[in-house]
Amino acid sequence: MFKYRKDIKFFEKMNAEQRLGASLVTVTQPNDVISEAFRQIRTNIQFSMVDQDYKSIMITSSGAWEGKSTVTANTAAVIAQQGLRVLLVDADMRKPTVAKTFGIDTTVGLTSLLTNREANIMDTVNYVSEANLYVLAAGPIPPNPSELLGSKRMAELIAEMEDLFDLVIFDTPPILAVTDAQIVATRVDGVIVVVRAGIANKNNVRKTKELLDMVNANVIGAVYNGEESKKMGYGYGYGYGYGHNNDQEK
Ligand SMILES: Nc1ncnc2c1ncn2[C@@H]1O[C@H](COP(=O)(O)OP(=O)(O)O)[C@@H](O)[C@H]1O
Ligand SMILES: [Mg+2]
Repeated sequence: MFKYRKDIKFFEKMNAEQRLGASLVTVTQPNDVISEAFRQIRTNIQFSMVDQDYKSIMITSSGAWEGKSTVTANTAAVIAQQGLRVLLVDADMRKPTVAKTFGIDTTVGLTSLLTNREANIMDTVNYVSEANLYVLAAGPIPPNPSELLGSKRMAELIAEMEDLFDLVIFDTPPILAVTDAQIVATRVDGVIVVVRAGIANKNNVRKTKELLDMVNANVIGAVYNGEESKKMGYGYGYGYGYGHNNDQEK
């Protein structure tokens, strides 16, 4: 019913030709230094989950273009590489990218589940075998994303997803742009904030933290998406710090 590509070359080609999806380096180049950085992020997330049975997390940032979708897809992929059943959900109905990243149908997804009570999660989710990941696209862009994400149906769906999977990871819009991510933050177990060097500014990151605190979100960490490793010839650098202890990144 849904098409997904079996060939890893597909990801590489897509990453090169179509900048709309996120770069899946952890799937295409698991030995790359960036993939190793994502495995460190995974370890840090798992440390912050020790003793807590976190079933759902979301990844957000203050503004656009900070690497939310890249970090979400690769974090989901490295966790799935450990053999866990991971569901990646595109809850960014403003600028959905997950379907493009994984080459799946853009016309069915979370909004289909939210607007059609008959729709079933497992029928709507795609299994992407090369990443061992279950992926739910955003679906058709609705006129009222915040309303849909804040609906009772959304709460029911999250509960159902948490039952069906070991971990559910949500890609979301920026915190400062619209209320969507703040709404999702109230419904997941943990929130991770991506802060991109050269794009995020201190005030906006502070405001983001305030908006998340305002809704009592459980901020479990921040991913610093920087240029640090440029000296090694890479434009990517990922670091991880805990929300409350790591003020130099805030
Ligand atoms: N550390 C980085 N170095 C270089 N390019 C990056 C880095 N992080 C993300 N990108 C690129 O920046 C763009 C935006 O990333 P994306 O993950 O889509 O951000 P968001 O979801 O926050 O809008 C993409 O083209 C992505 O490949
Ligand atoms: Mg995005």
